[in-house]
Amino acid sequence: MHQIWIVDFGSQYTQLITRKTRELGFRSEILTVDEASDRLKKDDWPSALVLSGGPQSVFEDNTDFSLFFKRPELPILGICYGMQIMAHVLGGQVARGHLGEYGNARVTFEKDQVLNGFPSSFSVWMSHFDHVTGLPSNFEVVLKSDNGLLAMMRDKKLPRVGLQFHPEVEHTQHGKDLLRFFYHEIAHLREDWSPKAMLFEGIQLITQAKATNVLCAFSGGVDSLVAATLAHRVLGERLYCFFVDHGLLRPQDYAHIEILQKHTSLSIEIIDAKTIFAERTRGLADPEDKRKAIGKTFIEVFETQVHHFEKTHDIHFTHLLQGTLYPDVIESTGPHQKGGKSAVIKSHHNVGGLPERMKLKLLEPLRFLFKDEVRALGLELGLKPQWVYRHPFPGPGIGIRVLGELNDKAIQKVQQSDQILFEELQNFHLYQAIWQAFTVLLPIRTVGVKGDARAYEEVIAVRLVNSSDGMTAHWSDVPRNFLETVSSRITNEVLGITRVVYDITSKPPGTIEWE
Ligand code: XMP
Repeated sequence: MHQIWIVDFGSQYTQLITRKTRELGFRSEILTVDEASDRLKKDDWPSALVLSGGPQSVFEDNTDFSLFFKRPELPILGICYGMQIMAHVLGGQVARGHLGEYGNARVTFEKDQVLNGFPSSFSVWMSHFDHVTGLPSNFEVVLKSDNGLLAMMRDKKLPRVGLQFHPEVEHTQHGKDLLRFFYHEIAHLREDWSPKAMLFEGIQLITQAKATNVLCAFSGGVDSLVAATLAHRVLGERLYCFFVDHGLLRPQDYAHIEILQKHTSLSIEIIDAKTIFAERTRGLADPEDKRKAIGKTFIEVFETQVHHFEKTHDIHFTHLLQGTLYPDVIESTGPHQKGGKSAVIKSHHNVGGLPERMKLKLLEPLRFLFKDEVRALGLELGLKPQWVYRHPFPGPGIGIRVLGELNDKAIQKVQQSDQILFEELQNFHLYQAIWQAFTVLLPIRTVGVKGDARAYEEVIAVRLVNSSDGMTAHWSDVPRNFLETVSSRITNEVLGITRVVYDITSKPPGTIEWE
């Protein structure tokens, strides 16, 4: 397997470089500058190195990066700040920009430099202030921008290329082709990353853990389902999935778990904890109070039930299987720090803290994968597309979709309206085109007319968003007749609702959930 290191100098696009590289079929991982330097010092060299962009300037940062260029034969691609480092270390010149270039720019190949399959000029995404003004010796100019600035340079002999613009963003035409050019023509690497390779690595990881009996807090969501199905390939009956029913679920969740119980070989134990969750949450109105109560109760119920299971079945669990993904693991040096903004805004409910408390080792077979890759792996494992493309659903469930005080009637209103929304998304073939869809019960009443009488009843908000990772999102522009159908069905079929509103807020400034 190749080792392509994407060295993160703090660019907001570092994850994107890695994703694009993997989409092209090359295994790649993100390293901080310190991690990469430490490994190089230990004589651990990758097959190719990509130096990301970053907010710094070679005029401010005195760090010596010459170690990265110690081996002439190591293929290196420098992007934006990465190209400036390349020029600076190798004896070229970098100038402080007065103007900088931000946004779209046009770049044109120098005579005799047009790369195979590329047009002579195309549009790219620039975001820089400093720029390279003098080439290191043995380098040549490949592309220039319309402002006359150097946009791409390459060493005439060694496998070193610099790009002033960002090939990883969608706004750059032929961006992926340029990355492919680097990996194929400069680094001479061949594709080695595919769902089969992910499956192979995942199985290896689980095998190496030498786990005896493994426990999984199973939600039925994409991550836990793929992690469990993968683990099951190695562990078979030694994998035990426990699904906690906290009563804050939608009809589709119950149906889904039943289907998984019937149609997969996973052993899924349902823990009916509706009563205790109701006791702990009814009457709570503050979002953080609800999240904390639900999270705490979840851990308590899970621990008690698992201990009981261990006793009655005379087994002992050694590991906890979790569907942690790569974006949660990467130690980012960029502005989008680990955990992201939303982690501070909302204390997301999860089973964090469980492994230490129950003295279990963690098994995280998806910790190297992005969400799209998890989905591809799920398909490779033979899971049905409708399971693998399920929308995300938050741990506290409907608890955070009843705004204000939680009570049984309010929960039912969300369950019924959500079911209508779900059915209509299927009828209109919109489900897969949307990243997440749900209904929210608002804590207000408005006047309406039902039959011939005045009604003074509650409001349901419908929220549909498109996103790639939940960190940012855009409200979905769906057909008007879909919205009309959903609105009319909810007001007709859900008792106590006279009004339906559609949320047209993106994230930021809104968040996806209302609480
Ligand atoms: P927000 O509302 O923060 O949501 O924009 C981003 C994504 O996270 C989900 N979410 C949660 N997931 N526990 C979870 O497990 C939570 O407390 C929680 N709050 C939000 C949300 O559904 C969206 O997918």
